[in-house]
Amino acid sequence: MWQAEGMTEAVLLVGGQGTRLRPLTINTPKPMLPVAGVPFTVHQITRARDAGVTRIILATSYRADVFREFIDDADLGIEIVIATEDEPLGTGGAIRHALPHLTSGPDDPVLIFNGDVLTGVDIAGLVRHHEATNSDVTLYLTPVEDPRAYGLVPLDESGRVIAFLEKPTTLEEIVTDLINAGCYVFRKSVIDSIPSGRPVSVERETFPGLLAGDSLVTGVVDRGYWLDLGTPLAFVQGSRDLVLGAAPSPAVPNPGPSLVLGGSQIAPDATVTGGSSVGRNVEVRAGAYVDGSVIFDSAVIGSGSRIYNSIVGAGAVIGSNCCIEGAVIGDGAMIGDGNELLTGVRVWPDTNLAALTVRFSSDRT
Ligand code: GDD
Ligand code: MG
Repeated sequence: MWQAEGMTEAVLLVGGQGTRLRPLTINTPKPMLPVAGVPFTVHQITRARDAGVTRIILATSYRADVFREFIDDADLGIEIVIATEDEPLGTGGAIRHALPHLTSGPDDPVLIFNGDVLTGVDIAGLVRHHEATNSDVTLYLTPVEDPRAYGLVPLDESGRVIAFLEKPTTLEEIVTDLINAGCYVFRKSVIDSIPSGRPVSVERETFPGLLAGDSLVTGVVDRGYWLDLGTPLAFVQGSRDLVLGAAPSPAVPNPGPSLVLGGSQIAPDATVTGGSSVGRNVEVRAGAYVDGSVIFDSAVIGSGSRIYNSIVGAGAVIGSNCCIEGAVIGDGAMIGDGNELLTGVRVWPDTNLAALTVRFSSDRT
């Protein structure tokens, strides 16, 4: 395994609000939501650790307290330093804010990770490419079918980045299917050049600025597993892929059809399958069927209920004979017997939906 001399540091950007995952992110920041049994951030930290990173700066802002509480008690075999912005400084501002915590030399490579991306990318290979090409910044790129929600990164034939188009709005801007996959290697001195004390977007300001100057920015295309866990459906897919072993993580040593944490009771005739992940002290009652879903701690799934591709928040109670598919049930919500909640439905925390109040089935008349 690669263990670069001097290159031991990384910055993990975890300060975003995770708006698209509301209501789950009202109480818990996105990287701290449980995915395949542990907070999502643990998958990223342990992958970085296994690639030889020995020190990570967690760049926090939104709900920094939740990270602090977790990291204080966690032993992940890597030094973790928490840097908290008083006001969110954006992606570039957060990297600049982490600078005083970095001990690397000016020419050393520093890894930067977006905190919501699940990937099997060869981190060591990325750093090797960065050093072999003597790049100022190296970007990890992946092809996607619809690149509009991302940063587009066209390359020339030598692998040099020629533009950075964040969230293109016109057809003319869609010049490639290669997107910024949310992991970079920066020469440390490039971080010094980001302005401090004000919000900066690395995507809209820093990268275009470097390209307009004479910096060498290169791209590494990796066609392996990649997923941004920004939406509820992507979130359940990421968790499912980790549980099943389709996405690699040192924090999931034994992939299988499901993952059930301690203290949970699954009725003998209930089924938990399809890469579902069940937290602690959950009750899955008689005849219930849970497929490809994430059930947070202390939730209850009533007898005969079917849960597909959904997220059930902590302490939520699903009554009996419900059908929940592609939905997000907030923490502590109560869903009465027989409800049917289909794709796109989001129930806010502590909502109380009485029995049979919502029906979206095709046979409603
Ligand atoms: N500390 C800190 N402070 N972190 C932040 C801030 C901030 O003010 N704003 C965002 N972040 C973190 C988020 O928590 C996330 O981990 C990361 O920075 C990227 O922000 P997102 O809000 O998730 O951006 P995005 O998904 O719309 O787009 C980004 O990721 C795409 C790949 O998933 C961009 O980097 C795109 O270019 C890229 O294609
Ligand atoms: Mg994102």
